[in-house]
Amino acid sequence: MAFNIHQSHKMILLLPAGMYLLLVILCAVVPAEIERQREAQAPPAPEHPLVEKGRAVFRQLNCGACHTQQVRGDEHLALEIDGRRIVPVLAADRRFASEATGSAHYDHEDPAMMGTQRTGPDLTGVGARLPGTAWHHWHLHDPRAVSPDSVMPAYRFLYVDELPADAKDYEEVGRIDGLTGGPKLYATPKAVALVEYLLSMQGVKR
Ligand code: HEC
Repeated sequence: MAFNIHQSHKMILLLPAGMYLLLVILCAVVPAEIERQREAQAPPAPEHPLVEKGRAVFRQLNCGACHTQQVRGDEHLALEIDGRRIVPVLAADRRFASEATGSAHYDHEDPAMMGTQRTGPDLTGVGARLPGTAWHHWHLHDPRAVSPDSVMPAYRFLYVDELPADAKDYEEVGRIDGLTGGPKLYATPKAVALVEYLLSMQGVKR
């Protein structure tokens, strides 16, 4: 029997089904298996419980709607300096970080919060770029207090100006340059964890 895909009902069904299966294996099963083996070889170091909690707050408040965590690198231009692999950053991403984001950046992320839209800056190395705890608190409390033209929403509900009677794990927020007067600010446990998470973003060490 001559092979004619247009006349054989069996082939019309089997060929697309076979191609679909092949694509699923190539695009989903194989990469998942490679990733599973990589994780088994080098399980990520455990992280501080506060950072873990902060990541959950970040996800809950959907900060990822405006902030990416991915700096794209140009693999073709990768070079090795002092045993360290450096992947130059794409020109379009240059202002966000000095190195590309590696898979290690997502070790603790499930799901990974790479994001797709940069209404705000990429946060990959924000802990290294902005290491001040108090700055982050004042910024979250009122972005426009420290960044006048910011379109970031204020997260005031993460703060109180008086400690509740049963306060536990609250932190007083210190003053920063340029912000004087006003009420005292106390960070709720959620805010404390969120800032701890932001400070843990130190860029990618390979
Ligand atoms: C509507 C979009 C939007 C949302 C939602 C948003 N941000 Fe922002 N964010 C911005 C913009 C715009 C800037 C730049 C101006 C500024 O510094 O406020 C920014 C700046 C920042 C910066 C300073 C980064 C840098 O490199 O200067 C941090 C840290 C930050 N945001 C954290 C957060 C966190 C945490 C959340 C969630 C609680 C969040 N943002 C939610 C828009 C957003």
